[in-house]
Amino acid sequence: MVIVTFQPFGTQLPISAGQSLFEVGRRAGVPISTACVGKASCGLCRVKILAGEELLVPQNPAEKQHLGNTYFISKLRLSCQVRVIEGATSGTIEVQLPGVQR
Ligand code: FES
Repeated sequence: MVIVTFQPFGTQLPISAGQSLFEVGRRAGVPISTACVGKASCGLCRVKILAGEELLVPQNPAEKQHLGNTYFISKLRLSCQVRVIEGATSGTIEVQLPGVQR
């Protein structure tokens, strides 16, 4: 089972291949910012990848349009576009909601 932890809340949730961090987090009440509700147009759903990036699909063109080519420095992704790779059956992912404090 792949588990994703949303910081700073410490919310741990199971996530399956093909599911986005956004849909799993929002369904469980994690307050991920959004204006477009997962359509990759608002850019508000950014999360910082703290661990488990090897379990995530690469950036798609919509993400690159919003975030540029700075992932190697910022570690920011659009949570609505970040999905767990096919075939991932175990592991841990940890993300931080930027600017959110407990
Ligand atoms: S929810 Fe708007 S870009 Fe991800």
